[in-house]
Amino acid sequence: MQRLRRLAVHCNAPVGVFDSGLGGLSVLAEIRRLLPQESLLYVADSAYVPYGEKTQEQIIERSLLLSGFLLDQGAKALVVACNTATAAAIQPLRERWPSLNVIGMEPAVKPAAAQSRSGKIGVLATTGTLRSAKFAALLERYCDQVKIFTQPCPGLVERIEAGELSSAATRELLIGYVQPLLNAGCDSLILGCTHYPFIRPLLREIVGQDIAIIDTGAAVARRLQSLLSADELLADAPEPTDCFYTTGSQDAMQQALPVLWGSAIPVRELYV
Ligand code: DGL
Repeated sequence: MQRLRRLAVHCNAPVGVFDSGLGGLSVLAEIRRLLPQESLLYVADSAYVPYGEKTQEQIIERSLLLSGFLLDQGAKALVVACNTATAAAIQPLRERWPSLNVIGMEPAVKPAAAQSRSGKIGVLATTGTLRSAKFAALLERYCDQVKIFTQPCPGLVERIEAGELSSAATRELLIGYVQPLLNAGCDSLILGCTHYPFIRPLLREIVGQDIAIIDTGAAVARRLQSLLSADELLADAPEPTDCFYTTGSQDAMQQALPVLWGSAIPVRELYV
């Protein structure tokens, strides 16, 4: 049944992407940059943000619901543009749709470890990501190569959702999270949450030019490209069609899009 569904998928079908909120737009931007012909379906689960403070069961339930919606809309592949949802739910998603390309993401420890000079790297992420078994396994893999310092950042996602990318309150919160990592001698900071690339300029201002700031969006886009290409599913339509949904406030997302996406496109409300 699932296999038949896959075979019926057309190369110009959209790519389905979701996040707990607007953070996944940072990944979506990388997908658009690398694969400009792909039509994109995006769901911001803003009624349930932040995922970082939710239980694994809650995140699995939301992830299955949103993915089911995206597949019902005809998505040919699924991108979980959220580290927290990947850590909690990637396995149940792959079990539910075994023949679908489901691309998840995790904090970029591998590239950070490869380029760190001090041998000390810091990971900024949600509480949910940092306490997950998946992240523990990632740490285990690299703990012989580098010393890894982790920093949960409660409250930061909410500030970014509110459009406060450089307010005094966001700056103060961020300094509180980053300073211990700098004090520990980290020369590389990993943005382990898809919301954080939106405050990269503020972070750069705080940490200066000598600290590497690393995120995963571009790598996710490359992985998507390679999987679609292997299945001969890369789009060839001249004009992609995008469709954005939110489970939260349509107005709030509409207002955020010019800053976070670069243009104002219509947003539909989604009740799942
Ligand atoms: N953007 C998400 C991530 O990459 C989740 C943030 C949240 O909802 O707590 O982890």
